Amino acid sequence: MLSKELQTALNNQVKIEGDSSQIYLAMAGWAECQGFEGIASFMYAQSDEERMHMLKLIKYINQRGGEATIPAVEKPSLDHSSFKTLFSQLFEHEVFVSKSINDLVHISLQERDYATHNFLQWYVAEQIEEESTARTILDKINLIGDDKGGLYLFDNDIKKFPLQQADQGI
Ligand SMILES: [Fe+2]
Ligand SMILES: [Fe+2]
Repeated sequence: MLSKELQTALNNQVKIEGDSSQIYLAMAGWAECQGFEGIASFMYAQSDEERMHMLKLIKYINQRGGEATIPAVEKPSLDHSSFKTLFSQLFEHEVFVSKSINDLVHISLQERDYATHNFLQWYVAEQIEEESTARTILDKINLIGDDKGGLYLFDNDIKKFPLQQADQGI
């Protein structure tokens, strides 16, 4: 049985994962309108993944005798002024998510809820991947700058990314 405190903290993470899904979805739509097909399909796939992260938490909370709260859909506020600012925000968001997962792990240990601690390890490992992917993208964007030819090549390059992500046994 989940404690009230842990249930609240896990429900907070449900919202964060839902928000993440919206952020990736907003980026997908933006990239699609700009003609960047590769970036768009990568972002659509990431958005689906984030929704799956949210569902996994909802099911866990309910399975442990808690009650999952379904959060409202929030409009992402993203600065689209350049690729660099856009992808910087994405990277910072993933770092924020990792911190939030760490806080959850901390609470689960304080409460000696080892089932939740064990459940959260999947998210700990997932965040290593997510941060590393976001960092790789940001590094590439920093190399390219605003060079149109470079962005065109990057758009082709990123088409390989979603397949690698999908292979990770989710
Ligand atoms: Fe996530
Ligand atoms: Fe993520």
